[in-house]
Amino acid sequence: MTPDMRGQEIPEAGKEALKESVRGYWNQQACGTDAADSDKFSRDYFDEIEAYRYEAEPYIHSFAQFSRYHGKKVLEVGMGAGTDFLQWVRAGAEAHGIDLTQESIDHVQQRLAVYGFEAAQAQVGDAEHIPYPDDTFDLVYSWGVIHHSPSTVRALEELVRVTKPGGEIKAMVYNRRSLHTFYRWGRYALLRGKPWMSFAEVLYHHMESEGTKGYTLAEVEAMLQALPLEDIRCAATVNRHDLLYNKPWPARAAARLLASLFGHDRCGFFLTFSARKRT
Ligand SMILES: C[S@@+](CC[C@H](N)C(=O)[O-])C[C@H]1O[C@@H](n2cnc3c(N)ncnc32)[C@H](O)[C@@H]1O
Repeated sequence: MTPDMRGQEIPEAGKEALKESVRGYWNQQACGTDAADSDKFSRDYFDEIEAYRYEAEPYIHSFAQFSRYHGKKVLEVGMGAGTDFLQWVRAGAEAHGIDLTQESIDHVQQRLAVYGFEAAQAQVGDAEHIPYPDDTFDLVYSWGVIHHSPSTVRALEELVRVTKPGGEIKAMVYNRRSLHTFYRWGRYALLRGKPWMSFAEVLYHHMESEGTKGYTLAEVEAMLQALPLEDIRCAATVNRHDLLYNKPWPARAAARLLASLFGHDRCGFFLTFSARKRT
């Protein structure tokens, strides 16, 4: 099995159809916007999305380190509702962004306008064919995106291609060997009488858009080592879904016990990695 797993097995024509279904899924609702009750595109709407995101995922700040990129050329791939993208702009980076969907671009443009900012450029674009020349960015950032693209390896190659020599890449993909994947397997395989379904299949069919992949730490390291990168760092992070934050306390206690048995962060659903492009 290649690191790209199921995504590698489908023919090119199948990949385009799958990508259209990914686009259709995220065009219906931009990621993370279900946290907001206020009128779409109002200031309250964007404030609620932002408050929810960094309460739920506080580690994004220490991973991204937005304020370190003042004056730097940053590309975000897969902006979704643009919550992280706004942080690049606020930090004074020259922020460029792409997303597969017009819904994301509408969010980003409305959002920046609400707070009185402008992006250098935010456009519909595909991670597998990034519309920028080689060696353009000081940082290429992508949180929770390339595992949705039919060829994750191709997307990763593109992130590296547009990074300047000496520039950085920071990204997050889903960890297949995580508690969150295990719970999904319980729900969509075991409880449906299909315990033979693999964790990969469960993520493929039952994690957000169709075709989502999950990787192990070793698989991500192997993918990164095949590229012209150095200072490679990969780590998993337990998130609140791994810890069943919204379930009754016995379930939360059981989740904490499972996490401590399986190495805590090692069995977290968010697998982050950073690397530097070789000069
Ligand atoms: C889980 S959301 C994450 C959005 C944002 N990064 C966040 O953390 O909220 C996935 C996003 O990736 C985008 N996406 C999926 N495949 C893509 C591709 N091939 N190229 C660019 N964006 C893609 C989707 O449109 C969606 O906005």
